[in-house]
Amino acid sequence: MKIAFNKFSGFYSENKEKILLNLERVLNTGEYIRANEIQILETKISKLCNRKFALTTSSCTNAIFLALKTIDIKPSDEIILPSFSYIASLSPILMCNAKPVFVDISPETLTLDFDLIKKAITPNTKAVIFVQLFGCSQDLSELKSFLKEKNIILIEDAAQALGSKVNNLNGGEQGDLSCISFDPTKIISAFGTGGVVLTNNQAYYDKLTKLIHHGRNQNGEFEILGYNSKISELNASIINLQLENLDSILERNNNIANQYFAELSNNKNIKILKPNSNQFSTYHKFVIQTRDRNELRKHLNNNGIETKIHYSTLLHEQKLLKSFEFKTHNLQNSEYAKEKVLSLPIYPNLTKEEISYICNLINNY
Ligand SMILES: Cc1ncc(COP(=O)(O)O)c(C=O)c1O
Repeated sequence: MKIAFNKFSGFYSENKEKILLNLERVLNTGEYIRANEIQILETKISKLCNRKFALTTSSCTNAIFLALKTIDIKPSDEIILPSFSYIASLSPILMCNAKPVFVDISPETLTLDFDLIKKAITPNTKAVIFVQLFGCSQDLSELKSFLKEKNIILIEDAAQALGSKVNNLNGGEQGDLSCISFDPTKIISAFGTGGVVLTNNQAYYDKLTKLIHHGRNQNGEFEILGYNSKISELNASIINLQLENLDSILERNNNIANQYFAELSNNKNIKILKPNSNQFSTYHKFVIQTRDRNELRKHLNNNGIETKIHYSTLLHEQKLLKSFEFKTHNLQNSEYAKEKVLSLPIYPNLTKEEISYICNLINNY
């Protein structure tokens, strides 16, 4: 049996007719950017995430960059982030010439440890980028109040968190600015790239609306230095179609995760990253941890199963950092995690037989 890590064409093959009709409808309008579909998408996302404002951007990387521009990040400002994340949590900081400050993660959640964030704060700390990982959200209420008192801005890298819940909070609900991704690996994705910035702050929203479109204000003047960051109407219509199916996508992913949990539950050699009872995960990724990670991965690969490692190189180890100034704190939990984590295939059309095949191989290894 051959099992791919992901099947990006899954939604298309299951909804071909609807999608093609949709694309034709949009093509016939002759309006390809910032028209009806984007308006629908921004309204849907702001409702789904319980935010006042949602503004679409060309990617989540760009959303994070524009969020930093919105809060006027200056060279030498310090920004706290985890080292255990994707490059896109870091690169926007470097694009602003600001200084990344790497802080360790909690071994239970693999996301930033609140106490360590607090210890790493200096008079130069301007923002914290909290990365919500693998389709699960952590409750940031306490951290957010702490940062607010210190005038430090919380940016939620919720690239992987759309559709998740923690307590009564939604993925993308918690940052002063939160950023979500629609790249093809995500639960809801464009046929290309796309992102969105979410906020409840009118001033931030007003600035973002200029930044995404060359700095133009409502009078048509180019008031500030801006960018060109948009999702096409075609892609917005695809994302809107998927959002209509969000509940079913989440249910299918949760069913797969539950089968993994059941079939791997007696395996003492692996630890599964599991949501707590107050969390609802989308299972953007299904992550296990094991000491024999590299060997197990080889074994699965030899039997036709593609897996991935999120993340095998920590951000502070990336070569590109050689030419930038940055600060690191003790990162022992991040170091430990990068050696142990393994992401197994998970997507709505993964079959029960395929999951059992994967679990049997892991259990009999
Ligand atoms: C944690 C994290 N942040 C940011 C991004 C960037 O998203 P995009 O690909 O939409 O730029 C990703 C994408 O994989 C991500 O996983």
